[in-house]
Amino acid sequence: MNRQLLEKTASALVTPKKGILAADESTGSIKKRFDAINVESNPENNRLYRQLLFTTPQIEKFISGVIMFDETVRQTTDDGIPFPKYLQKRGIIPGIKVDKGLKDMANFPGEKIAEGIEGLRERLSEYSQMGLKFAKFRTLTMIGDNMPSDTCIESNSEVLARYAALCQEADIVPIVEPEIFMEGKHTMDQSRHVLQKVLKETFIALDKHKIYLKGMLLKSSWAHPGLDGLNKPDSKEIAKATLSVFKEILPDELPGVVFLSGGDSPEDSTSHLDALNEIHKGPWKLSFSFGRALQEPVLKTWLGKAENIKLAQEVFFKRAMLNSLARTGEYKKEMEGVQ
Ligand code: 13P
Repeated sequence: MNRQLLEKTASALVTPKKGILAADESTGSIKKRFDAINVESNPENNRLYRQLLFTTPQIEKFISGVIMFDETVRQTTDDGIPFPKYLQKRGIIPGIKVDKGLKDMANFPGEKIAEGIEGLRERLSEYSQMGLKFAKFRTLTMIGDNMPSDTCIESNSEVLARYAALCQEADIVPIVEPEIFMEGKHTMDQSRHVLQKVLKETFIALDKHKIYLKGMLLKSSWAHPGLDGLNKPDSKEIAKATLSVFKEILPDELPGVVFLSGGDSPEDSTSHLDALNEIHKGPWKLSFSFGRALQEPVLKTWLGKAENIKLAQEVFFKRAMLNSLARTGEYKKEMEGVQ
């Protein structure tokens, strides 16, 4: 394990004013996104869309890294440059999603277990040769009647820790993502409690597996009331509750946390990150690793048409810039015209 290299990559991913683009939708997820805009998902259309994102002029000002899916890391730009190499040349760190998705957990109806550990050492060795510098692995915790169970939280934490160990062995920075599902009617208190429990177990497992904390990142959900509940989430409340959990659980050595957007609108997601950074004093950097919150307006502008590419890139540039402002808590002030 090259600790220096891991540390350098992890801190570059959370470098000030920049964040990560999660463009790692699996074959099934990209199909869902394309269905919504009436575009057929096939390898060539997927490639054209990812090319639109990656070739956006000056996007490296706000994007430190991109998470890709296996199909994408094997594809090239129109000029034949492999995407990982192209991004690296632009100063953007190329990354890869390595989990193999979620399966129903036996004996725990409604709960999910993440797959992808089998054969991971071999896959990571290939990805490393392809120039990929970091990876992502996602588990999912559901909140509901009798959920989550301790067994599900502990099993998924163990999977995340084993993944992180294999990544660091291959000098690839692990992004550990114990997502908490935002859909449902749960309250802020329930969400805060589950976030605390999940992060606690995750860091116990990471410690047991001797993970080098300075050479990894956490990808987290916010403490956030369920999206199907009555109350619209308030960014200040989300920021306060999320930070209180982090202060209790997260070790100081962790370089940073990057957030997923989880189904909130792009504006709300930016606003939550902004509110967090407005009150946050460290030690960890708080950044973004948004999928939908960066891409939703881009997809709606593109609509699969070549003539819309330029405008869609401008939309992407703007969303990335606004999230960059949220990295320092300056988004709201900027929106209100305050200097
Ligand atoms: P969303 O921001 O759309 O939730 O996606 C981020 C992600 O990578 C989920 O695994």
